[in-house]
Amino acid sequence: MNKKTVRDIDLKGKKVLVRCDFNVPMDENQNITDNTRIVAAIPTIQYLLDNNCKIILCSHLGRPKGEVKPEYSLKPVAKELSKLLGTEVKMAEDVIGESAKKLSANLQEKEIMLLENVRFHREETDNNPEFAKALSTMAEVYVNDAFGTAHRAHASTEGVAKFLPAVSGFLIEKELKFLGNAIENPERPFVAILGGAKVSDKIGVIDSLLEKVDTLIIGGGMAYTFFKAQGYEVGNSICEIDKLDLARELMQKAEQKGVKFLLPVDTKVGKEYDKNTESKTVKCTEIPADWEGFDIGEETIKLFAEEIRKAKTVVWNGPLGLFEFEQFAVGTNSIAKVLSEIDATTIIGGGDSAAAVEKANLADKMTHISTGGGASLEFLEGKKLPGIECLQDK
Ligand code: 3PG
Repeated sequence: MNKKTVRDIDLKGKKVLVRCDFNVPMDENQNITDNTRIVAAIPTIQYLLDNNCKIILCSHLGRPKGEVKPEYSLKPVAKELSKLLGTEVKMAEDVIGESAKKLSANLQEKEIMLLENVRFHREETDNNPEFAKALSTMAEVYVNDAFGTAHRAHASTEGVAKFLPAVSGFLIEKELKFLGNAIENPERPFVAILGGAKVSDKIGVIDSLLEKVDTLIIGGGMAYTFFKAQGYEVGNSICEIDKLDLARELMQKAEQKGVKFLLPVDTKVGKEYDKNTESKTVKCTEIPADWEGFDIGEETIKLFAEEIRKAKTVVWNGPLGLFEFEQFAVGTNSIAKVLSEIDATTIIGGGDSAAAVEKANLADKMTHISTGGGASLEFLEGKKLPGIECLQDK
């Protein structure tokens, strides 16, 4: 990475503002249901502790749209962090108000505090310079370690870098290393697996990966748009009628580039969107009217697995079926299992694919699971991420 990290700057004893992505899932009682992103922030925090820094952490949680909503408070995160670090993380009652100012002014070396949800201010997502400046005045150095939010040009992810020396933390460094190496310098064969509901969400990434991969495997809801584009009926399956031409263009591009473009050959269809719905497996060319495709079928699992077993690098983004419902999680779980068994670099994009791999208990078998859903997708698309671009060059 050509951006400076915490190692490249003198921050001994300094007051450091660290942007993390603590946007973690919580249940209705504000219990954290997956602390992966909090755990991922620890190496940078520990490094700052070891360097006697005064540490001011900040993050967003959810999308409170500029309003103070208690259900979006970061208090549970402060508690979890205190537990994980074995030291108290002081919680501010606000973001740039009296409480935050007082706590930060009195912060001693090796002490840690957390600001309230930065999105309690609309100025955060507006990337308002005054708000960014107010954040910056609390610290002497800015560290961005929020890879999951690096695709957002917000005040705490980008704006604040205009007012303070800005470097990355270890999580961003690690994410860029794994994702960057995979697409810039992959050991071949290089296979990408893309799933998820909509082609429209993945156009950029399909287009860009077609320049790099040997094989592109398509599953999930978006496969039905490709079937329809080939003239097949898809019943009630999710299908973007306005993207048929685009689907055809992408298939043509794959052919021109000599990229193997694999679509499912059979699919598990259900009567309705219900976890206990009646289901059966049919050929993808014979999806009955009134039925809806929810997963890839056994033949497809075999076909995909065979291709994946030949790979030396695999990037996977998006589940291959409706994995939230057990009977339609077979495709996603089977492919996750294949990935866990092969001798290859396996990179899992964040968001749903990361959740699916966690759910299948295979997370520790993958080379890298990104903490960024949207961010990793934009990175794989070749887009510049504002939260990284704003950091100092080496
Ligand atoms: C995420 O969960 O993808 C990040 O935290 C970004 O959240 P956002 O999509 O609300 O900006």
